[in-house]
Amino acid sequence: MSPRQELIRQKLIRQELAAAIFDEVGALTRDEAGITREAYGEGEERAMQAIERRAALLGLAAERDRFQNLWLRLPEDSRAEPPVVIGSHLDSVPRGGNFDGLAGVVAGLLLLDALRGQAMTAPPLRVLALRGEESAFYGKACIGSLALLGQLPASALSLHHRSGRGTLGEAMARSGVDVDAVARSEALLAPAEIAAYLELHIEQGPVMTARDWPSAVVTGIRGNLRHNRIRCLGEAGHSGAVPRWLRKDAVLAVAELLSRMDEHWRVLLQMGMDLVMTAGICTTAPESHAVSVIPGEVSFSFEVRSQDSATLERFYELFREECRTVATSRGVRFAFDACLASPPAVMDAGWIGCIEAAGHARGTSVEQIASGAGHDAAVFANAGVPSGMIFVRNANGSHNPDEAMAIGDFADGVDLMLKALRKAVPSKISTCPHALA
Ligand code: GLV
Ligand code: MN
Ligand code: MN
Repeated sequence: MSPRQELIRQKLIRQELAAAIFDEVGALTRDEAGITREAYGEGEERAMQAIERRAALLGLAAERDRFQNLWLRLPEDSRAEPPVVIGSHLDSVPRGGNFDGLAGVVAGLLLLDALRGQAMTAPPLRVLALRGEESAFYGKACIGSLALLGQLPASALSLHHRSGRGTLGEAMARSGVDVDAVARSEALLAPAEIAAYLELHIEQGPVMTARDWPSAVVTGIRGNLRHNRIRCLGEAGHSGAVPRWLRKDAVLAVAELLSRMDEHWRVLLQMGMDLVMTAGICTTAPESHAVSVIPGEVSFSFEVRSQDSATLERFYELFREECRTVATSRGVRFAFDACLASPPAVMDAGWIGCIEAAGHARGTSVEQIASGAGHDAAVFANAGVPSGMIFVRNANGSHNPDEAMAIGDFADGVDLMLKALRKAVPSKISTCPHALA
């Protein structure tokens, strides 16, 4: 077999391996519609165990930390010096897609596999499968990475499950997490103990497909301010008997509030600001709502995201001001739960340069893109760890069952990460002969 044929053979083997892992984890965590890997729940645990089994089959060392995040490494490489960490998460939103998070962990696994038997990289390479990145079940994002760095506020442990199934702290304890250590804000790792954090992730948006970019380099990550539950309290009444001027209709109040915010959003976009706003949950009380009842109560979530902290804060202030205005004009009251914040993050210029240079070296230009979605990379970057992200294009959006990714695009992204690693740590890693795409 010629070297070129051998390269093609390696490429096919790795794509098949990746596809098999995606299929296996997908099959283990599929529910009636889509994929559900609940943070600190059953689906996430199944995914963790599937990755552990794969690691064992591939002869990689796997170990969980005290917060039940999973670490993989080459067995011969137990060096203690600060590693380059390739990470992502294994949980998902309810009824989501198979690739959000999982793609980054599989990418790390393939990279370790590709480097096996070669001279060791300097610094060492570690793969990290994080838990609880999605905020869908407990309303708090990036739980695993924040806890790892000792940055998860103890108050987060009291957050309630979206369907009333206990608290986050209880779920973490059931998963084997040392919750007392989390409550003490004990860090398992200091930022200085990590040389760099890299994450491969699907884009989750339509831009790369529209522009025909298989992979891209991420420049920054939007932060957000959010309330998981705001209650708008009006007055229930007979839908036929109460005239408009005497109503305190909570649905109309929330509808007006959101329309006003939508208009502010439109204007701020015209002014060139980076902003998205969502009320993903909006519901009347099922135990008392009826066609013939003026709604007396609405519960809704509110989230604003931006790459710019000042924009986030200004838009949030505007929201609270509009709540006051609508409360007065419609005779309702708003009751707020805690406002949760995830700050925006900027990716490391050095890693952006390395990823771009890696693209040039293989004859493709790698475009820059900002991430609309949140990622664990933001937690590491904001803690001072030089962080980089590669996006892989995907079809049909994300956080839905139709999310799709071509395995060739995934391999392209993994190849880019390997080449960027070679650029950044050229000393020994460059002896690796395998191409991943
Ligand atoms: C994570 O997917 C997020 O909500 O941005
Ligand atoms: Mn997600
Ligand atoms: Mn994700």
